Amino acid sequence: MDKPREDYNDKQVVSEIMARCFIPTLVTSISWEAFHFAGHEIRITEAMDCYGAVVWPSALVLCYFLETNAKQYNMVDKNVIEIGAGTGLVSIVASLLGARVTATDLPELLGNLQYNIFRNTKMKCKHLPQVKELSWGVALDRNFPRASNSFDYVLAADVVYAHPFLEELLLTFDHLCKETTIVLWAMKFRLEKENKFVDRFKELFDLEEISSFPSLNIKLYKAMKKNRRSA
Ligand SMILES: C[S@@+](CC[C@H](N)C(=O)[O-])C[C@H]1O[C@@H](n2cnc3c(N)ncnc32)[C@H](O)[C@@H]1O
Repeated sequence: MDKPREDYNDKQVVSEIMARCFIPTLVTSISWEAFHFAGHEIRITEAMDCYGAVVWPSALVLCYFLETNAKQYNMVDKNVIEIGAGTGLVSIVASLLGARVTATDLPELLGNLQYNIFRNTKMKCKHLPQVKELSWGVALDRNFPRASNSFDYVLAADVVYAHPFLEELLLTFDHLCKETTIVLWAMKFRLEKENKFVDRFKELFDLEEISSFPSLNIKLYKAMKKNRRSA
């Protein structure tokens, strides 16, 4: 970031972030929302039946960060994985910015995720993004063998909330990261139980708060594995 976070005018930046979302007033049989990032209109189809079926504000914060910090966090030709990708907005923006993206989520989310990703990246991206199942903590060695993981970035938006897989989530972050991998993680603060996750996370990762948006209760973190030899 160019400016220290104290200089951030929370309200001003948050209204700029939220202005990237357009909700059509005309109600049609297909519901979608439009977002403006990386020079493109991105149309996201949502569903109402699960957490991953809508775009959460943390995703907007992370997309805005990626777009406005594209020099410092250059996505071009980088290997990027998103966990808990939901509707896919963050993965789409990373792809539009030039990354080689793998978007992941639970199996039941993959149909809509694939649809949104294909619709918004086809003929627009240098590297066609992949969509893969990744249930936190499940079959990690088989599906994402440590030896072949070479992610430059792990992206995550709003993956910490009242679900029973927080330990598996931590395991997954750890599994996907090598010494030089950068985690960019937008976290919505809700209840104490979930907030304790940050303390657990800090046992394995060096964590740096890179922005904070008090009016949204969202913080953006950068993290790298502890005890790395070089970074
Ligand atoms: C609050 S939503 C956030 C979605 C998206 N990142 C966003 O910010 O719009 C949480 C996401 O985590 C996914 N998720 C929840 N539990 C999971 C698990 N055990 N393994 C993998 N993904 C999971 C959900 O399917 C959902 O897409």
